[in-house]
Order: sequence, then structure tokens, then C-alpha cells
Amino acid sequence: MTQSTRHPRRFIWWFAGGVAILLCAWWLTFHLRGILIFGLREDYRRAVPYQAVPAGLTSLSAESCGQCHQAIYEEWKTSIHAHAYVDPFFQAYWRKDEHIWICLNCHSPLENQQPHLIKGLVNDDAERPITEPNLRYDADYQREGITCAACHVRDGVILGPFDDAVAPHPTRFDPRFRSTELCYTCHQVKSGPLQFYNGGPCATFFEFEGGPYAKRGYICQTCHMPEIERPIAAGGPVRKGRQHLWRGGHSPEMIQRALQAEVIPPASAVGSGDEARFILKVTNGGAGHSIPTGDPDRYFQVELEVKDANGKVVSHQSHMISRWIIWRPVILEVFQNRIPPLQSRSYYLNYRMPDQARAAGMTVHAKVTYHIMTERAYERLQTKFGLTEEVPHVFTIYEQTLPLTAHGPLPVIKTATAGSSSLVSSCGEPDMAVHEGMS
Ligand code: HEC
Ligand code: HEC
Ligand code: HEC
Ligand code: HEC
Ligand code: HEC
Repeated sequence: MTQSTRHPRRFIWWFAGGVAILLCAWWLTFHLRGILIFGLREDYRRAVPYQAVPAGLTSLSAESCGQCHQAIYEEWKTSIHAHAYVDPFFQAYWRKDEHIWICLNCHSPLENQQPHLIKGLVNDDAERPITEPNLRYDADYQREGITCAACHVRDGVILGPFDDAVAPHPTRFDPRFRSTELCYTCHQVKSGPLQFYNGGPCATFFEFEGGPYAKRGYICQTCHMPEIERPIAAGGPVRKGRQHLWRGGHSPEMIQRALQAEVIPPASAVGSGDEARFILKVTNGGAGHSIPTGDPDRYFQVELEVKDANGKVVSHQSHMISRWIIWRPVILEVFQNRIPPLQSRSYYLNYRMPDQARAAGMTVHAKVTYHIMTERAYERLQTKFGLTEEVPHVFTIYEQTLPLTAHGPLPVIKTATAGSSSLVSSCGEPDMAVHEGMS
């Protein structure tokens, strides 16, 4: 007779107990953490209060501002700020987060754009809002996401960076337009209780503050809103202003501007049987904050391969540049290896050189890709959270192939992106020293 048939009852009790514990643990992992992956802060816990149309204007819509500010309107229309509400990734994640109210305060921030008024929170719990229907809600306006008025309109006045504007609407100089303060409101999300991040989930400002660019007097606008001279309104004087583009992680050109890569072959020819060392050096040479930044889903993948003459991979290594976060039952950032501004990191590929005849056809490949999110997360949005559009979410940032026998300094190759992107004309500074990091 075996143990379990001799004590069938005791076995069943133990089994049931085990299952109950597992069920409890499973329940806890989903309920202890809650929905929100960040905490509340005064400046974004409330919507921008209801704004009336300023005197002299007929509407608050971006299109109506565009009647006179046409160039700025056309730029804004192509920006991710204009798409912050309709963005399919936002919509899918918002569905996953059960349409919790707080997301709207940054993705469509005016009270005019929100269907509910938040009157308070039960026990200060973001997941238990006391709501009332908003009778002045404008659904079309909500689709404008971060519209002109989100940054520019308060109390019937248009705020801006100038103190001498002569406009058909009231204007007021506001120094925040030429500081990081305006961006801080939404681009510095704080941790909540039981959330242990190294700086918050989307803490771009935290990575920038005190860094080499901040010390040189750069602000977010220096790189994300390139300077331009033009009339700011139809018929107005030419002024120094800024393009309303805000390119970032969805723009391969912008990412190429941030991450610079090169493969360094062995200094001299390597004999058969000796080890050839290729170095892939990646540098954050163009971003004022870590790369990747913002949404913790973002990461870079670095791949190094050796292929034989038939194209078969004989050696392969792959690395991630990202944040490692445990999401349940509490949020814990365990490790991160993102690259801070002006720092670089080297990856080494060591390969024992075969005999000359074999080595002749062999190649070394280096590749860096940028990922908005993992393929798995993307598929989950499709299968579970209603993502129907195909949205580009992987970009090749760098690719290089060399013969395995390559050595010595490589000729300098001008890549298509170097210096050609007008979107980011004023960022990066060649004379800033780059610091070597660990690999
Ligand atoms: C009928 C034309 C017209 C419309 C419509 C209009 N503006 Fe203006 N706006 C102007 C003119 C003209 C100026 C002054 C230009 C100058 O002085 O160089 C101006 C100035 C500004 C400034 C600079 C203010 C400062 O002091 O720095 C901002 C910001 C601005 N407008 C935003 C908006 C927004 C937002 C809207 C829509 C809600 C809008 N405007 C609608 C014509 C217009
Ligand atoms: C009202 C909140 C808000 C303010 C203020 C704001 N942003 Fe944003 N920003 C967002 C949101 C939300 C997104 C992401 C939208 C999306 O992808 O759905 C975003 C996206 C971006 C991106 C692009 C990210 C990408 O994935 O391509 C850049 C760059 C950016 N903002 C820069 C700025 C700068 C610079 C300022 C200050 C002048 C600023 N933002 C002010 C909310 C804001
Ligand atoms: C995320 C915030 C944000 C949004 C949204 C936004 N702006 Fe601006 N706007 C700024 C900042 C910052 C400046 C200051 C640029 C500078 O230093 O000259 C500015 C400047 C301006 C100026 C003065 C000209 C200039 O280039 O400085 C005008 C006019 C203007 N914006 C109009 C608009 C209109 C029209 C829209 C919508 C189509 C809009 N803005 C949307 C942040 C914003
Ligand atoms: C020296 C230039 C520079 C400065 C200063 C700078 N950025 Fe960036 N930023 C970049 C470049 C280049 C990228 C593209 C790399 C990337 O997306 O990882 C970028 C990317 C971003 C993204 C996109 C993240 C993503 O992948 O979704 C956001 C958001 C952003 N920046 C916000 C800011 C804010 C907010 C500030 C000010 C606190 C700022 N940046 C200051 C150059 C700069
Ligand atoms: C404090 C302001 C703020 C709040 C609140 C906020 N976001 Fe965002 N969100 C941002 C900013 C800023 C970005 C851009 C950062 C970046 O691109 O990495 C962003 C980016 C995103 C993106 C990436 C979009 C893309 O196209 O890749 C998604 C998805 C998103 N937010 C969903 C949400 C959801 C869901 C909520 C509510 C649970 C929420 N956000 C609440 C500021 C906010």
C-alpha cells in the first residue's frame, strides 16, 4: 500500500490547503497592487479647470487657433501631443486599466474634454472617485488630446513667451514657457505607495535634472521644440519662436540622434587560433536624459553575431538596455542599465579566428533596435485589449556588417541621419565630453 491511499483524507486536506494558499496569493497579486502604477501629485491630480473662449475668439479648438497660427497648428497636428487621446496604444492601455479617470488629466487635460467631474476620492483612493457627469463635456474636443489651450489658455487669457504681443485676443507673458516647468507637470510621474521605482515610472525630468545638459542651460524645448525665426501669426512680425513638434520615441530619426553606435574591429590582423575582439560602442550622445526614457516598456536590444560563409550564425549574443521591474504583488524596480546623457557603453565579441580559408567568407554583424514595447505586450494589447491598428513599434537604429578579418581603423562612413535631421537641429553638442561606462 502506498502512503497516499493509506491516508487519502489527510492528503485531500493538504491538497485543498495548498490550492487555497495559491488562490489567495493569486488574488493578492492582483489586488494588493491595484490599477495605478504611479502616485498622485497636486499638479496632475486635477483636470485643468473649465476654460471659456477668450474674448475676441470664437472657439478654443486647435483648428480655430490655426486660422492665424497656421504653421504652429500644422506642426502640432503631426505631434504625439495632438494624438495623446486617440493614440491606439493609449486607448488599449486605458481599456486595460478599466478607463480610470486619472489618465485623462495628462492625455486630454482640460475639464472641457472630460465626461466626468471628479468631486473627491473616498479615503484618498484614486480607484474610488466620487464622480458627477460633466454637462459642458465636448467629445470632439477630447479627441484633440493635448490641445493648444492645455498649455496656453487660463482664465480667458492666452499665456505665452512674449511680453510685447499685439493680438486680437488677450495675452499675458508667462516665464514657464521658456523653462522645464511646463513639461514637468506631465513628464515627471511620481511613485505611489508600495511602488519602489528608481525615480518614478515616467520620470524624464528626474533624469535630466542636474545632468550635463541642464548645467549648460538646455531645457526640454531646446531639443524637442527646435528654434525657428518666422512670424508667429499671419501678418505679425518675424520672431524667434519654436516648432511645436515634440518628436521622441516614435521617431526613428530622433532615436538615432540620441543613440550613436560604432563597431571597432581589432587594431591589427589576427592570426588563426588567436582571439579576435570586436567592440560595439553605444553612446547616448544626443538626449538630455537617459535612453530609453519615459514609459518603462521602452528598451533597446543590442545584438552581435558571427556568420560563416553560408550565412549560418556560429556565435550570437544579445543584450537589453532597459529597466527590470517586478510588477506584482508590489512594484519593485530591481535593476536598470539605461544610458545616462553623454555616457557610453561597450559590448565585446571575442571569436577564435579559424584557418584563413574559412575565415575569409565569415562576417561580424552588429545591430541595435529600439522597442516601444515587447512583442508579447503588443500581442496582449491585440488579443485582450482591443488594439486593432498596426502600429510601428520596433525600429532598427543601427546595423553594421564587417568581414571577420577586418582590422585597423575603419573609414568614416557618413550615415544618412547624421546631421540631416532638421527636427533636432539644435540638440547635442560635439564638444561635450563623453564618459565611458561599464559594459
Ligand atoms: C484672429 C487671429 C488669431 C487667432 C484666431 C488666434 N490668435 Fe494667437 N495671436 C494672434 C496674433 C496676431 C498674435 C500676436 C503676434 C505677434 O505679436 O507677433 C497672437 C499671439 C499669440 C501667442 C503669443 C502670446 C504671448 O504673449 O507670448 C500665443 C501663445 C497665441 N497667440 C496662442 C493662440 C491660441 C492658443 C489660439 C486659439 C485658442 C489663438 N492664439 C488664436 C492672432 C490670433
Ligand atoms: C498635459 C500634459 C503634458 C504636458 C504639459 C507636456 N506633455 Fe509631452 N507628452 C504628454 C503625453 C501624455 C505624451 C504621450 C502621448 C502618447 O503617446 O499617447 C507626451 C509625449 C511627449 C513626447 C514624445 C514621446 C514619444 O513617445 O514620441 C515628447 C518628446 C514630449 N512629450 C515632450 C514635451 C515637452 C518638451 C513638454 C514641455 C514643453 C511637454 N511634453 C509637455 C503629456 C504632456
Ligand atoms: C505642450 C504644451 C504646448 C502646446 C500643446 C502648444 N504649445 Fe504653443 N508653445 C509652447 C511653448 C513651450 C512655447 C514657447 C516656445 C518659445 O520658447 O518660443 C509656445 C509658444 C507658442 C507661440 C508663440 C510663438 C513661439 O514659437 O514661441 C504661439 C503663437 C503658440 N505657442 C501657439 C500654439 C498653438 C496655436 C497651439 C495648438 C495648435 C499650441 N501653441 C500648442 C507650448 C505648447
Ligand atoms: C539634448 C537634447 C534633449 C533634451 C535636453 C531633452 N531631450 Fe527628450 N529626447 C531627446 C532625444 C534625442 C530623444 C530620442 C531618444 C528616445 O526616445 O529614447 C528624446 C526622447 C524623449 C521622450 C520620448 C520617450 C519615449 O521613448 O517614449 C520624451 C518623453 C522626452 N524626450 C521628454 C523630454 C523632457 C520632458 C525633457 C526635459 C526634462 C527632455 N526630453 C530633454 C533629446 C533631448
Ligand atoms: C502625469 C501625467 C500622466 C498620467 C496621469 C498618465 N500618463 Fe500616460 N503618458 C504620460 C507621458 C508624459 C507619456 C509620454 C512618455 C513616453 O512616451 O515615454 C505617456 C505615455 C503613455 C503611453 C505610451 C503611448 C505610446 O504611444 O507609446 C501609454 C500607453 C500611456 N501613457 C497610458 C496611460 C494610462 C493608461 C494612464 C492611466 C492609468 C496614463 N497614461 C496616465 C503622462 C501621463
